[in-house]
Amino acid sequence: MPKIIAGNWKMNLSLEESHTLCKALDAIKSTHEIIIFPPFVWLNQMTNSTKNIAIGAQNCAAFDNGAYTGEVSAKMIAQTKASYVLIGHSERRKYFNEKNASLILKVKQALAHNLNIVFCFGEDLEQRKKGEEKNIVKEQVLDVLKDIDPQNYNKIILAYEPIWAIGTGQTATVEQIEAIHTHIKNVCKEDLNHVFKILYGGSCKPSNATQILSTKNVDGVLVGGASLQYDSFHSIIHAV
Ligand code: PGA
Repeated sequence: MPKIIAGNWKMNLSLEESHTLCKALDAIKSTHEIIIFPPFVWLNQMTNSTKNIAIGAQNCAAFDNGAYTGEVSAKMIAQTKASYVLIGHSERRKYFNEKNASLILKVKQALAHNLNIVFCFGEDLEQRKKGEEKNIVKEQVLDVLKDIDPQNYNKIILAYEPIWAIGTGQTATVEQIEAIHTHIKNVCKEDLNHVFKILYGGSCKPSNATQILSTKNVDGVLVGGASLQYDSFHSIIHAV
């Protein structure tokens, strides 16, 4: 079964490094869908130099156009020929105070410009310690998706990223991953009548990728740190 292997480069890599890595990834023969999320400013170059992998932006504005200094609209992203946008990453929620109300607008903007979406959700450590994770993730997902036209659901992929596992080296156990993925698949089936694909993200690396990717209800992975080097990302792509 083909999986989705996505790399979130965050605010890393020079133009030259990005170009070299994208070209090398584009040459990999794989049945899996590979998506790379480079920084905004490299999008055009990356879409022009690749044909087998998908390219996406790491964020988009909640508005169509106008006086929003520093923002980049979904319309502009679509013009770079990028086909995806990442929305709701925990770093955006934490450092840029993104809340559900603006995430809904971002999802609508992306869909209006025919972009596919990887929508991130996940609990923090305190919420998990209190045993609140299932309610938190349900709210994060349903609050946004219930506002979206069901005709567009097939353009949305979900990504479960427990905040305590991102960039910490601490991966969620397969039991924890399976529990949340199954819970969200069931909740979406019941409330929205749609089964979404769900990626796992949070310290995914070559040593744990096979185990994560063979976990029930895991449709792929969203990789941060380990997507910045060809060797580690290549190993993850070949882990299944
Ligand atoms: P990480 O990041 O793989 O470095 O933990 C994952 C992410 O933030 O998408």
